[in-house]
Amino acid sequence: MAASSIQPVGIIGGTGLTTLAGLRIEGESAVTTEWGEPSAPLVRGTLDRQPVIFLARHGNPHRIPPHQVNYRANLMALYQAGVRTVVGVNAVGGIHPDMGPAHVVIPDQIIDYTWGRACTFFEGELDSVTHIDFTYPYDREARELLIEAARAESIGFSGFGVYGATQGPRLETAAEIRRMERDGCDLVGMTGMPEAVLAAELGMRYACLGLVVNWAAGKTDHIITMDEIEAAIEQGMSGVKRVLARSVAS
Ligand code: HPA
Repeated sequence: MAASSIQPVGIIGGTGLTTLAGLRIEGESAVTTEWGEPSAPLVRGTLDRQPVIFLARHGNPHRIPPHQVNYRANLMALYQAGVRTVVGVNAVGGIHPDMGPAHVVIPDQIIDYTWGRACTFFEGELDSVTHIDFTYPYDREARELLIEAARAESIGFSGFGVYGATQGPRLETAAEIRRMERDGCDLVGMTGMPEAVLAAELGMRYACLGLVVNWAAGKTDHIITMDEIEAAIEQGMSGVKRVLARSVAS
Protein backbone atom coordinates (compact mmCIF):
# COMPACT_ATOMS: atom_id res chain seq x y z
CA MET A 1 0.00 0.00 0.00
CA ALA A 2 3.02 2.27 0.21
CA ALA A 3 3.06 5.12 -2.27
CA SER A 4 6.77 4.42 -2.57
CA SER A 5 8.79 1.52 -1.21
CA ILE A 6 10.28 3.57 1.60
CA GLN A 7 7.26 5.49 2.81
CA PRO A 8 5.73 3.99 5.92
CA VAL A 9 2.01 3.21 6.01
CA GLY A 10 0.24 4.62 9.06
CA ILE A 11 -2.24 2.46 10.92
CA ILE A 12 -4.46 4.11 13.50
CA GLY A 13 -5.83 1.37 15.73
CA GLY A 14 -9.13 1.85 17.50
CA THR A 15 -11.12 -0.06 20.10
CA GLY A 16 -9.85 -3.64 20.20
CA LEU A 17 -6.65 -2.79 18.34
CA THR A 18 -4.26 -1.07 20.74
CA THR A 19 -1.36 -3.22 19.59
CA LEU A 20 -0.72 -4.91 16.26
CA ALA A 21 0.32 -8.55 16.43
CA GLY A 22 2.55 -9.50 13.51
CA LEU A 23 4.22 -6.11 13.52
CA ARG A 24 7.97 -6.56 13.82
CA ILE A 25 8.63 -3.67 16.16
CA GLU A 26 11.76 -1.62 15.55
CA GLY A 27 11.16 1.17 18.00
CA GLU A 28 8.77 3.46 19.73
CA SER A 29 8.95 7.23 19.85
CA ALA A 30 7.06 9.68 22.01
CA VAL A 31 6.66 12.67 19.69
CA THR A 32 5.01 16.04 19.95
CA THR A 33 3.52 18.38 17.36
CA GLU A 34 2.48 22.01 17.15
CA TRP A 35 -1.06 20.70 17.80
CA GLY A 36 -0.08 18.87 20.98
CA GLU A 37 0.73 15.27 21.76
CA PRO A 38 -0.70 12.30 19.91
CA SER A 39 -2.67 9.66 21.82
CA ALA A 40 0.35 7.37 22.24
CA PRO A 41 3.96 6.96 21.16
CA LEU A 42 4.40 6.05 17.50
CA VAL A 43 5.34 2.40 17.12
CA ARG A 44 7.63 1.84 14.14
CA GLY A 45 8.06 -1.53 12.58
CA THR A 46 7.56 -3.67 9.53
CA LEU A 47 4.62 -5.77 8.49
CA ASP A 48 5.89 -8.28 5.97
CA ARG A 49 8.83 -5.93 5.09
CA GLN A 50 6.60 -2.88 4.54
CA PRO A 51 7.48 -0.09 6.99
CA VAL A 52 4.51 0.68 9.20
CA ILE A 53 3.87 3.24 11.89
CA PHE A 54 1.18 2.22 14.34
CA LEU A 55 -0.70 4.65 16.58
CA ALA A 56 -3.26 3.64 19.22
CA ARG A 57 -6.08 6.18 18.76
CA HIS A 58 -7.37 5.87 22.31
CA GLY A 59 -3.92 5.51 23.91
CA ASN A 60 -2.30 2.35 25.15
CA PRO A 61 -3.85 1.30 27.48
CA HIS A 62 -7.18 2.41 26.00
CA ARG A 63 -8.11 5.54 28.01
CA ILE A 64 -8.99 8.48 25.73
CA PRO A 65 -12.70 8.70 24.76
CA PRO A 66 -13.61 9.50 21.13
CA HIS A 67 -14.52 13.16 21.78
CA GLN A 68 -11.21 13.79 23.56
CA VAL A 69 -8.83 12.25 21.05
CA ASN A 70 -6.39 14.86 19.75
CA TYR A 71 -7.01 13.99 16.09
CA ARG A 72 -4.90 16.88 14.83
CA ALA A 73 -1.85 15.78 16.82
CA ASN A 74 -2.37 12.17 15.73
CA LEU A 75 -2.48 13.00 12.02
CA MET A 76 0.30 15.57 12.22
CA ALA A 77 2.57 13.16 14.14
CA LEU A 78 2.11 10.54 11.42
CA TYR A 79 2.67 13.13 8.71
CA GLN A 80 5.88 14.35 10.34
CA ALA A 81 7.06 10.74 10.54
CA GLY A 82 6.79 10.48 6.76
CA VAL A 83 3.42 8.74 6.52
CA ARG A 84 1.37 9.61 3.43
CA THR A 85 -1.07 6.69 3.46
CA VAL A 86 -3.20 5.97 6.53
CA VAL A 87 -5.63 3.19 7.39
CA GLY A 88 -7.95 4.03 10.26
CA VAL A 89 -9.35 0.96 11.99
CA ASN A 90 -12.71 1.72 13.58
CA ALA A 91 -15.15 -0.28 15.68
CA VAL A 92 -18.65 0.56 14.45
CA GLY A 93 -22.31 -0.25 14.97
CA GLY A 94 -24.18 -1.83 12.06
CA ILE A 95 -27.28 -0.18 10.55
CA HIS A 96 -27.39 -1.83 7.08
CA PRO A 97 -29.05 -5.29 7.28
CA ASP A 98 -25.91 -7.00 5.90
CA MET A 99 -23.63 -5.34 8.44
CA GLY A 100 -24.02 -7.36 11.62
CA PRO A 101 -21.49 -8.09 14.37
CA ALA A 102 -18.02 -9.23 13.21
CA HIS A 103 -18.68 -8.00 9.64
CA VAL A 104 -15.88 -5.92 8.11
CA VAL A 105 -16.74 -2.77 6.16
CA ILE A 106 -14.64 -0.55 3.93
CA PRO A 107 -16.92 2.50 3.66
CA ASP A 108 -16.95 4.93 0.77
CA GLN A 109 -18.76 7.92 2.25
CA ILE A 110 -19.19 9.83 5.50
CA ILE A 111 -21.87 11.91 7.16
CA ASP A 112 -20.49 13.94 10.05
CA TYR A 113 -22.73 14.41 13.11
CA THR A 114 -19.91 15.32 15.50
CA TRP A 115 -19.71 18.77 17.07
CA GLY A 116 -17.22 20.84 18.98
CA ARG A 117 -14.19 18.85 17.84
CA ALA A 118 -11.04 20.52 16.52
CA CYS A 119 -11.68 19.56 12.91
CA THR A 120 -9.23 21.60 10.81
CA PHE A 121 -5.60 22.65 10.61
CA PHE A 122 -6.73 25.88 8.95
CA GLU A 123 -7.24 28.20 11.88
CA GLY A 124 -5.47 31.09 13.54
CA GLU A 125 -3.41 33.49 11.46
CA LEU A 126 -4.02 32.35 7.88
CA ASP A 127 -2.80 33.77 4.61
CA SER A 128 -6.04 32.76 2.92
CA VAL A 129 -9.22 30.81 3.56
CA THR A 130 -8.97 27.22 2.32
CA HIS A 131 -11.89 24.91 1.51
CA ILE A 132 -10.52 21.49 0.63
CA ASP A 133 -12.47 19.20 -1.66
CA PHE A 134 -14.00 16.33 0.34
CA THR A 135 -16.40 14.87 -2.24
CA TYR A 136 -14.85 11.41 -1.87
CA PRO A 137 -13.53 11.30 1.69
CA TYR A 138 -11.73 7.97 1.36
CA ASP A 139 -8.87 7.22 -1.02
CA ARG A 140 -10.04 4.96 -3.85
CA GLU A 141 -6.79 3.02 -4.30
CA ALA A 142 -6.30 2.40 -0.60
CA ARG A 143 -9.93 1.20 -0.39
CA GLU A 144 -9.40 -1.14 -3.31
CA LEU A 145 -6.34 -2.70 -1.68
CA LEU A 146 -8.35 -3.29 1.49
CA ILE A 147 -11.23 -4.76 -0.52
CA GLU A 148 -8.92 -7.09 -2.46
CA ALA A 149 -7.28 -8.20 0.78
CA ALA A 150 -10.66 -8.86 2.44
CA ARG A 151 -11.73 -10.89 -0.59
CA ALA A 152 -8.48 -12.89 -0.57
CA GLU A 153 -8.85 -13.59 3.14
CA SER A 154 -12.43 -14.86 2.58
CA ILE A 155 -13.90 -12.83 5.40
CA GLY A 156 -17.44 -11.45 5.48
CA PHE A 157 -17.14 -7.86 4.29
CA SER A 158 -18.82 -5.04 2.40
CA GLY A 159 -16.77 -2.78 0.16
CA PHE A 160 -19.14 0.15 0.45
CA GLY A 161 -21.04 2.02 3.12
CA VAL A 162 -21.85 5.42 4.51
CA TYR A 163 -20.14 5.98 7.86
CA GLY A 164 -22.17 8.19 10.20
CA ALA A 165 -19.80 9.79 12.70
CA THR A 166 -21.48 10.59 16.03
CA GLN A 167 -20.16 12.56 18.97
CA GLY A 168 -20.36 9.93 21.73
CA PRO A 169 -19.19 8.84 24.13
CA ARG A 170 -22.73 7.58 24.69
CA LEU A 171 -24.28 5.26 22.15
CA GLU A 172 -27.26 6.53 20.12
CA THR A 173 -30.98 6.38 20.80
CA ALA A 174 -33.14 4.17 18.58
CA ALA A 175 -34.69 7.32 17.06
CA GLU A 176 -31.25 8.74 16.25
CA ILE A 177 -30.38 5.54 14.44
CA ARG A 178 -33.69 5.65 12.53
CA ARG A 179 -32.85 9.20 11.50
CA MET A 180 -29.34 8.19 10.45
CA GLU A 181 -30.81 5.34 8.41
CA ARG A 182 -33.15 7.79 6.66
CA ASP A 183 -30.09 9.96 5.99
CA GLY A 184 -28.45 7.00 4.26
CA CYS A 185 -25.98 5.84 6.93
CA ASP A 186 -24.98 2.17 6.91
CA LEU A 187 -22.67 2.30 9.91
CA VAL A 188 -22.28 4.39 12.99
CA GLY A 189 -19.06 5.16 14.81
CA MET A 190 -17.51 7.89 16.95
CA THR A 191 -14.01 8.29 15.55
CA GLY A 192 -14.25 8.48 11.76
CA MET A 193 -14.37 12.26 11.90
CA PRO A 194 -12.47 14.54 12.02
CA GLU A 195 -9.75 11.94 11.37
CA ALA A 196 -10.63 11.57 7.67
CA VAL A 197 -10.81 15.29 6.94
CA LEU A 198 -7.57 16.07 8.76
CA ALA A 199 -5.80 13.43 6.67
CA ALA A 200 -7.29 15.08 3.56
CA GLU A 201 -6.13 18.52 4.68
CA LEU A 202 -2.59 17.15 4.90
CA GLY A 203 -2.91 15.58 1.45
CA MET A 204 -2.65 12.05 2.85
CA ARG A 205 -4.41 9.03 1.38
CA TYR A 206 -6.86 7.75 3.98
CA ALA A 207 -9.14 4.71 4.14
CA CYS A 208 -11.27 3.23 6.91
CA LEU A 209 -11.34 -0.43 7.87
CA GLY A 210 -14.44 -0.82 10.03
CA LEU A 211 -15.30 -3.77 12.23
CA VAL A 212 -18.95 -4.00 13.21
CA VAL A 213 -19.08 -4.77 16.92
CA ASN A 214 -22.83 -4.46 17.57
CA TRP A 215 -26.13 -3.87 15.85
CA ALA A 216 -26.89 -0.16 16.15
CA ALA A 217 -29.39 0.99 18.79
CA GLY A 218 -32.94 -0.24 18.17
CA LYS A 219 -31.89 -2.77 15.53
CA THR A 220 -32.47 -5.66 17.93
CA ASP A 221 -34.94 -6.17 20.77
CA HIS A 222 -32.25 -5.76 23.42
CA ILE A 223 -30.01 -2.96 24.58
CA ILE A 224 -26.32 -2.85 23.60
CA THR A 225 -23.96 -4.45 26.12
CA MET A 226 -20.19 -4.32 26.45
CA ASP A 227 -20.23 -8.13 26.56
CA GLU A 228 -21.65 -8.36 23.04
CA ILE A 229 -19.20 -5.73 21.81
CA GLU A 230 -16.26 -7.61 23.29
CA ALA A 231 -17.46 -10.89 21.80
CA ALA A 232 -17.68 -9.34 18.31
CA ILE A 233 -14.19 -7.82 18.68
CA GLU A 234 -12.89 -11.23 19.68
CA GLN A 235 -14.62 -12.82 16.70
CA GLY A 236 -13.74 -10.21 14.08
CA MET A 237 -10.40 -8.66 14.96
CA SER A 238 -8.28 -11.52 13.62
CA GLY A 239 -9.85 -10.95 10.17
CA VAL A 240 -9.15 -7.23 10.43
CA LYS A 241 -5.50 -7.95 11.23
CA ARG A 242 -5.21 -10.35 8.30
CA VAL A 243 -6.70 -7.75 5.94
CA LEU A 244 -4.28 -5.14 7.26
CA ALA A 245 -1.26 -7.39 6.86
CA ARG A 246 -2.21 -8.47 3.34
CA SER A 247 -3.14 -5.00 2.07
CA VAL A 248 -0.11 -3.28 3.56
CA ALA A 249 2.20 -5.87 2.04
CA SER A 250 0.74 -5.37 -1.46
N1 HPA B 1 -22.53 3.65 17.85
C1 HPA B 1 -21.48 4.52 17.80
N2 HPA B 1 -20.22 4.10 17.86
C2 HPA B 1 -19.99 2.79 17.94
C3 HPA B 1 -21.02 1.85 18.00
C4 HPA B 1 -22.37 2.31 17.95
O1 HPA B 1 -23.34 1.53 17.99
N3 HPA B 1 -20.44 0.63 18.11
C5 HPA B 1 -19.11 0.85 18.09
N4 HPA B 1 -18.82 2.15 18.00
